[in-house]
Amino acid sequence: MERINASIGFDQRFFAQDIAGSRAHARMLVEQGILSTEDGQAINDGLDTISRDIEAGTFEFSVALEDIHMNIESRLRELVGDAAGRLHTARSRNDQVATDFRLWVRDEIDAIDAQLQGLQAALIEKADAHAGTVMPGFTHLQTAQPVTFGHHLLAYVEMFGRDRSRFADARARLNESPLGAGALAGTSFPIDRAATASALGFDRPMANSLDAVSDRDFALEFLAAAAICTTHVSRFAEELVIWCSDGFRFIALSDAYTTGSSMMPQKRNPDAAELSRAKTGRVYGALIGLLTVMKGLPLAYSKDMQEDKEPVFDAADSLALALAAIAGMTTDMQAQPENMRLAAGKGHSTATDLADWLVRAAGVPFRDAHAITGAVVALADQKSMTLAELSIEDMQGVDARISADVFEVLTVEASVASRTSFGGTAPDNVRAAVAEARRRFLTGPEGD
Ligand code: ARG
Repeated sequence: MERINASIGFDQRFFAQDIAGSRAHARMLVEQGILSTEDGQAINDGLDTISRDIEAGTFEFSVALEDIHMNIESRLRELVGDAAGRLHTARSRNDQVATDFRLWVRDEIDAIDAQLQGLQAALIEKADAHAGTVMPGFTHLQTAQPVTFGHHLLAYVEMFGRDRSRFADARARLNESPLGAGALAGTSFPIDRAATASALGFDRPMANSLDAVSDRDFALEFLAAAAICTTHVSRFAEELVIWCSDGFRFIALSDAYTTGSSMMPQKRNPDAAELSRAKTGRVYGALIGLLTVMKGLPLAYSKDMQEDKEPVFDAADSLALALAAIAGMTTDMQAQPENMRLAAGKGHSTATDLADWLVRAAGVPFRDAHAITGAVVALADQKSMTLAELSIEDMQGVDARISADVFEVLTVEASVASRTSFGGTAPDNVRAAVAEARRRFLTGPEGD
């Protein structure tokens, strides 16, 4: 029973939040005349000692005392006697644990937001340095059209920006206080829930006592936001793995983020990227795990809900580690512009530019231009040439309306430079987008 019942092995992680909740509760009890000033003072002093001991690693946790709440209360009783027994007036572990966990998740959201902002800063800096670096853009992982490396990196800045806003949404809904809901029905004591809510930085007390002790939406929303965020981490990690592979060599990662092989001396494996990609499984698992725990629970609290913590802790740790790794690799990676440019010219990546030229310069309807370009591409393939290597006679043999100035649009540089539509890949756009991204994500109320 002790083994299945105890949560102290993991819930000691939010001892600081538990102590903060107890302080707020005790102060409110004193202010409401429910607890004497002396008892309130004794409780506060005792909690100071406990907090110091836990931080110093000298606190003795007991499995028999089940969880963090009872461990702290029991020690408090040893330290300050009867006053400790009065602390639990008008409170239950049900509203206590809900409060502690919300506070913990809120802190975690703030830490993740800072990490995401740091990652965005690293991406924006690289994007700035590579605003004009041409690389192949892919669809289906087949060469599609040339893009700039800076533009590609800024795509991730947007993704991580949405993640930050998802976490911020979750934080706003999370920020209501369950404290004072009691076991499930409220309390007969004249408590002031607004006071404890505000002391703990919550916007307001939760409106319904049953909901307050049985809701874990905040943990689910945290995991859902983490799951989407880790999807983005994984996609970026996958790109890093591809980019540093022998078939690509678009980037090089230093020894700081790679490992050697025990057998093959030449190897430099992108383990940090692979592990960041793999952490996703744990985060998805945590989300599905907790959804499954919650789905059949009648109101209000059931002990099943003790199983809410470990998945959230593990997901938070996994995400934090993966974010740190990919932020580090973003700064560490060295782009290889020559390889990128060479690859960008392959696969007739400027075929769309030829079709667009026919539309613009010769008034050909796009659908016809598409067909003509297809024929030019076939001819180039037949001659094992790029589009730019074909002669004007070759081109005119396909369609007489093609003139020599078409060659101006067939280089990869001309191609990217022409993509000046809003949100497009042109180097000038990327430079403007870098400035805009700095303003949106790295300064002002969102950032710092
Ligand atoms: N350790 C418990 C948990 O994590 C605290 C709440 C216990 N409540 C109860 N009624 N047994 O959920």
